[in-house]
Amino acid sequence: MPIIDMKDMLQHAYDHGYAVGAFDLVSLDFLEAILSAAEAARAPVILSLAESHFSYFDVELIMPAVERAAERASVPVAIHLDHGASPDSAIHGIKLGCNGVMIDASHHDFSENIRITRAVTDTAHACGIAVEGELGYVPGVEGEDAERHPDQLAYTTPAEARAYVERTGVDFLAISVGTVHGRMKGKPRLDYQRLKQINEALAIPLVIHGGTGLSDAQFRRLITNGVAKINYYTALSEAAGASIRSSASTRKGNSYTNLVKDVRRAVGSEVGSKMRLWGSAGRAAEVLARCQAWTPVEHLIIYNLSGGNDPEQAEMLMTEGRRVLGAIPGVREVVSGTAARENAGYRYSWLIRFCHPKVIDSFREHPDHVAFADQLFRPLANDRISIDYLIESDARMRKPEEAREQKGSHISTRALFRKVLF
Ligand code: 13P
Repeated sequence: MPIIDMKDMLQHAYDHGYAVGAFDLVSLDFLEAILSAAEAARAPVILSLAESHFSYFDVELIMPAVERAAERASVPVAIHLDHGASPDSAIHGIKLGCNGVMIDASHHDFSENIRITRAVTDTAHACGIAVEGELGYVPGVEGEDAERHPDQLAYTTPAEARAYVERTGVDFLAISVGTVHGRMKGKPRLDYQRLKQINEALAIPLVIHGGTGLSDAQFRRLITNGVAKINYYTALSEAAGASIRSSASTRKGNSYTNLVKDVRRAVGSEVGSKMRLWGSAGRAAEVLARCQAWTPVEHLIIYNLSGGNDPEQAEMLMTEGRRVLGAIPGVREVVSGTAARENAGYRYSWLIRFCHPKVIDSFREHPDHVAFADQLFRPLANDRISIDYLIESDARMRKPEEAREQKGSHISTRALFRKVLF
C-alpha cells in the first residue's frame, strides 16, 4: 500500500507547510538508503528517476526493484519521472511504474512549452497520473550534472506562470527563482519576492530543482512560500563518492563490496537530515491516513473463439493484441494465455495491467483499442467474460517480516464488475 497518489501527497505538504524530498536515485544503494532514511524519519518520500541519468543504469531493470521497495515500505512513497524529455518519455515512465511524471519543455519558447506540456497532462491525467511542468530555466553550474542543463538561468514570471498553469493543467510547477542544478559558483541568491508572487498567483504545490547547496534558512523561506517538493541529487552523489574514497584510503583490499560498504549509510544520513529540515519527518502516519492509496487494476478477459478455437487464429489475435494494446497509455503489461487443460470452460485469456482505475475508461475509448476490439477481437470472440479487478496483494500491504508471519501469500481481489466491455 505505501505507494500513494502523488497529487494528494504534495497537496498535504503544501497545506501543512512542509516539503517532500524528491531524491534522484542512480543505484540500488541509493534506493535502499533513501527508503531506510524515510522509514527512520517517518517521512513521506518521492523516489525520483531522472531521464538524464538513464545512461547510468538500465531503467527497465531498476524499476521493478523501485516499485517492490516502495510497495513494502512502511512510509508513503511516490515514484516520479524527473525531467522527462518528451510525451513519449512520460508514457514510457508510466508504463514502467511512475505515478507522477515531469515533462521538462522549459528550454522551448513559452507557447511550445505549453503545447508539449498540455499533450502530457491530457494523456497522464486520463491515466490518473499527476504531472509536473517547468517554466523558467534552472541551469547546471558545477558538478556532474551541470552539462546536462546548459544555458543561462531564466526566471519564472508570475503572469506567465498563471497562464502556463491554466493552459497546461499541470498539478505542480517547477519554478526558477535563482537555484541551479549541482553546486553553484558563489552563494545562491534567491528571489523570494518573485516566489511569493508566483505562489499567490497559483496556489498549487511549487517545486524547487537544484536543492544542493542551499542553506537551512533558504530552504525554510522557500517552504514558507509554497515549495512542497524539493529535488535533491548532487549532495547525495557527493556523499556516496566521499564514502568510497574514504573506504579506499582506510580499508585493506580494494574489492567492490568493501569500497561501497558505507555508501548507503552516507546517502541515508544526507537524506534523513534534509527530511528533518524540510519538515516531512514525522508526517508519514497522517499522510497515509489522508491520501489515497495507489491501486492498480487488472483487466481480465476469458474467451472462446467462434467456430472451434482455431489455434492459429488465436495466436494471430494474441500477437496483435499484445502489440496494439501494450502501447496504449496507462497499460503496464499485456499477457495472453491458453488454458492449461483442454476442457476448460474458456480456452483463452487476456490479463491487461492498468496503472490506475481511470485507465478502465481511457483504455476502452482509445482509438487503437476500439479498432482492435471492433475489427478483430469481438467478431472472433463473442463468447467472453471481462472484469476489472482492483488489486491488493500481500506484497503491496506489508513489509517482508510481517508477510513472513502469514502462512503462504495470496492475492485478494475486489472486482469492479462491468458488463463485457472488450
Ligand atoms: P541538485 O543536483 O542541485 O540537488 O538538483 C537535483 C535536481 O534538481 C534534480 O531534478
